[in-house]
Amino acid sequence: RPVVALVPAAGRGVRLGEPTPKAFVPVGGIPMVRLAVDGLIASGAVHRVVVVVPAEMVDAASALLSTTSLTGGSMPPVPVQVVVGGAERTDSVRAGIAAAPDAGYYLVHDAARALTPPELIARVATELQAGSPAVVPALPVVDTVKSVDDAGVVTGTPDRARLRAIQTPQGFDAELLRRAYATDVGATDDAGLVERLGVAVHTVAGDPLAFKITTPLDLTLAEAVLSVGGS
Ligand code: CTP
Ligand code: MG
Repeated sequence: RPVVALVPAAGRGVRLGEPTPKAFVPVGGIPMVRLAVDGLIASGAVHRVVVVVPAEMVDAASALLSTTSLTGGSMPPVPVQVVVGGAERTDSVRAGIAAAPDAGYYLVHDAARALTPPELIARVATELQAGSPAVVPALPVVDTVKSVDDAGVVTGTPDRARLRAIQTPQGFDAELLRRAYATDVGATDDAGLVERLGVAVHTVAGDPLAFKITTPLDLTLAEAVLSVGGS
């Protein structure tokens, strides 16, 4: 059962505020999408990669991803395909799913989580292959989280011990993810769609280095991590 990684990289990066679409902004001199794909390949858990990019970036992405992984030469070659995404992240993931109808499992992994350790990717794949139909990396929440009403008045404080911050890659039995995406409701992550089908989503330990590069501060942090050789 082939493990196909889908890499949503078709966002604009409005919050980062760079002129280039975010996934093509370099970190330590290498575009985020290339770092993310190299991490997937280095995990040894992925048979094929589908990268989803803005229409005007297809040629640039193909050139950027055509050479073999920068991270090591000992793995068998992993084919990397580039397809065009859509306006919302869910549209981009849907395009990725359509490009890989042969998948047995999907790992959906944000290009913006460029520093994700290969060990985390392997952990998700292992749990999936052990029989969990949906797997997400999770970290304890450090801030207290509150809900608010339209006026910004606090309406509740969920018990922090029960909360987790969720990262990617998120792993799914392929048929389950196709079914989840056949429904047309919004969600801020892929597992959210699976939860609505009533299927249990399992967690594995996340990793701080799998943080999403969203704002200029995140980019500064990522540059700092790479410059000290961190991981
Ligand atoms: N993404 C995508 N297609 C979209 C929107 C987002 O493939 N239409 C991807 C992004 O490229 C990113 C991941 O989904 O790798 C997570 O999204 P986010 O961090 O929100 O990135 P952007 O949408 O690019 O950033 P912003 O919301 O600040 O514009
Ligand atoms: Mg976005």
